[in-house]
Amino acid sequence: MSEVLLTVSSAEVDIDGSRILRGVTLEVRHGELVALMGRNGVGKTTTLRALMGLRPLRSGVMTLGSTDLTKLDTASRARAGLGYVPQGRDIFPHLTVEENLRISLVTHGIKGAAAREGLDEVYTLFPILKQFVARKGGVLSGGQQQQLAIGRALLTQPKLLLLDEPTEGIQPSIIEEIGDTLKKLKSPPVAAAIEQAQHDTEEIKGAIKTLRRTRAGLSILLVEQYVDFCRAIADRFYAMDRGAVTISGPIADLTDEVVKEHLQV
Ligand SMILES: Nc1ncnc2c1ncn2[C@@H]1O[C@H](COP(=O)(O)OP(=O)(O)OP(=O)(O)O)[C@@H](O)[C@H]1O
Ligand SMILES: [Mg+2]
Repeated sequence: MSEVLLTVSSAEVDIDGSRILRGVTLEVRHGELVALMGRNGVGKTTTLRALMGLRPLRSGVMTLGSTDLTKLDTASRARAGLGYVPQGRDIFPHLTVEENLRISLVTHGIKGAAAREGLDEVYTLFPILKQFVARKGGVLSGGQQQQLAIGRALLTQPKLLLLDEPTEGIQPSIIEEIGDTLKKLKSPPVAAAIEQAQHDTEEIKGAIKTLRRTRAGLSILLVEQYVDFCRAIADRFYAMDRGAVTISGPIADLTDEVVKEHLQV
């Protein structure tokens, strides 16, 4: 088994006097894609925000390789090798694809040849972004926006990518559920929406798979509630409940029984 890249040990976080993380412990090895799962409000985003230094730890330890992250501010954590794609994607709707990427280059002080190579790499990975380079972020489909957000995070050459619910807002699980019933009624707008959602999800899945193939060694911590998506791309999973990990294992252990007990509402 490969070396451990990220270690989170007994991480505790308070928000407004409430204990939100109650001792989160997990690890990600080099080249691994690890899914961090759990129902709404269990602390998945808080875990990622704490990793980025956007939420202070009350106690616990977070290390990336031999670097103690807890001593670093957010910019230094990015320099140390963390890339972050926040929930909701946070792209600028009124700026073009290229402007969205360039803002990240400026923010991180990446200039000249390094900047050009960074952009080239993103456009090679995600050709749709090159095709739509002059399009406004706000008019892209959900799947394309997610590729833009991932591309933007890659510009800092991270060792570990933190992805927060890339399929959110696309809601394939909900659409699939009601979809099966509604499809029978042959309602054209709904059928089209289902098709678009499935297409977007496939597009995101494809983007992550491409990334893993071309960036060997890149590790990914994927926060996600869409079970089949995780089954399709993750190596291992952790399930959280009320601020702590309740079960973990290889992705093959994410059985329907585990989903029912730990992940379903
Ligand atoms: N800014 C905040 N102020 C107050 N409470 C917060 C804040 N951010 C998060 N919380 C609380 O912390 C808990 C964990 O939130 P978090 O966003 O980490 O959950 P999550 O697992 O990412 O949920 P979701 O799947 O809905 O995104 C929730 O109960 C939430 O209400
Ligand atoms: Mg969240």
